Amino acid sequence: MNLTAASSMTSQPDIGTLRSQFPALQTEVHGKEVAYLDNAATAQKPLAVLERMEQYYRRENANVHRGVHTMSQVATDAYEGARSRMASFLGASDPREIIFTRGTTEAINLVANTFGLGFSSGDEILISEMEHHSNIVPWQLLSERTGARLRVVPVTDEGELDLEEFRMMLSKRTKLVALVHVSNSLGTINPVRRIIADAHSMGVPVLLDGAQAVPHAKVDVKELDVDFYSLSSHKMFGPTGVGLLYGKTEHLEAMPPWQGGGDMIEQVDFAGTTFNEIPHKFEAGTPHIAGVIGMGAAADYMEDIGWEVIASREQDLLTYGTERLAAIDGLRIVGTAPQKAAVISFLLGNAHPYDVGTVLDRLGIAVRTGHHCTQPLMKRYGIPGTVRASFAFYNTREEIDRLAAGLERAASMLS
Ligand code: ALA
Repeated sequence: MNLTAASSMTSQPDIGTLRSQFPALQTEVHGKEVAYLDNAATAQKPLAVLERMEQYYRRENANVHRGVHTMSQVATDAYEGARSRMASFLGASDPREIIFTRGTTEAINLVANTFGLGFSSGDEILISEMEHHSNIVPWQLLSERTGARLRVVPVTDEGELDLEEFRMMLSKRTKLVALVHVSNSLGTINPVRRIIADAHSMGVPVLLDGAQAVPHAKVDVKELDVDFYSLSSHKMFGPTGVGLLYGKTEHLEAMPPWQGGGDMIEQVDFAGTTFNEIPHKFEAGTPHIAGVIGMGAAADYMEDIGWEVIASREQDLLTYGTERLAAIDGLRIVGTAPQKAAVISFLLGNAHPYDVGTVLDRLGIAVRTGHHCTQPLMKRYGIPGTVRASFAFYNTREEIDRLAAGLERAASMLS
């Protein structure tokens, strides 16, 4: 990607130039250029990320932290440079607070299997009804091991957290609040600043699942004062299979290691092993080096585009999309919180979401259908799933017009 061109986009983004940086947006599906409206599942990758990863594999490929030779040092510098990059991307003051993982799911499992081991019978973990399975199941597994109890904050009909209930559930027994920052199914942006302040006033640490938040807006972990924050690279225009856990130094240093292997040790002896310092204590084995470097390039790319451009384009698409879809006979939007990211979940009359998704696919329109890995939330609304359109800054009103026309067609075919 041409960085100079990108910087000038901040004031005047040219949508054609933006889209040309994402080769997959030119893919044809059933003879039509794809309208890619499934960004909450995974976002497309700009040339800047693809080229940076290719450069690593073509010219810099060597293992990290394991050699005095020049290529290993170059790879290590790029890998550790990406750690510093991700720290500044998230507003963390110390790169040692960034642990690379396979993604959000592994980051949450890491906390459950280390920090969570201190929990015991009588302790409580507070989650919510709108959590992704990856922020439910690790805590259920931990509860089985430790006897800690899982408590669930309800959501309102509109798709907001019931904050009164949340405050009532917080108590001396609460050992951790683990909540989604932005709901992948509903788009709701949770008021995390207030939630963290409430939890901290009771001495309770907070973990946020930020997978759907970081693609849309600047997150500053220091300003939030959050204890743990997790993200997945592939939802922020980076490669799949990599992400990170941010944790406050005091927590990370106190936590035991999780996976054992190379890199996470200081000394290994059959009589016993001592462990490396953070962050390496939590990074066993050869990591996804190209992925980490690619994630750093994705962070550069996003900041080059600029948060204002990202936010204003997405809010326009959300407002326009909501208006267009709400005008379709029999279409019901699920999740109408006032604070939303660019996600619209809906049902079309009595049509099954899979059938609607299949009709749209024939028209070259990519949306996600199903329960979106939030089965308890679907149960809360008494529905099997939804059709979900999720937008990124590179989407256009024309693509939303195609979606609306496709839905009119689906309605006539499926009713
Ligand atoms: N959690 C991702 C989604 O919402 C995969 O689609």
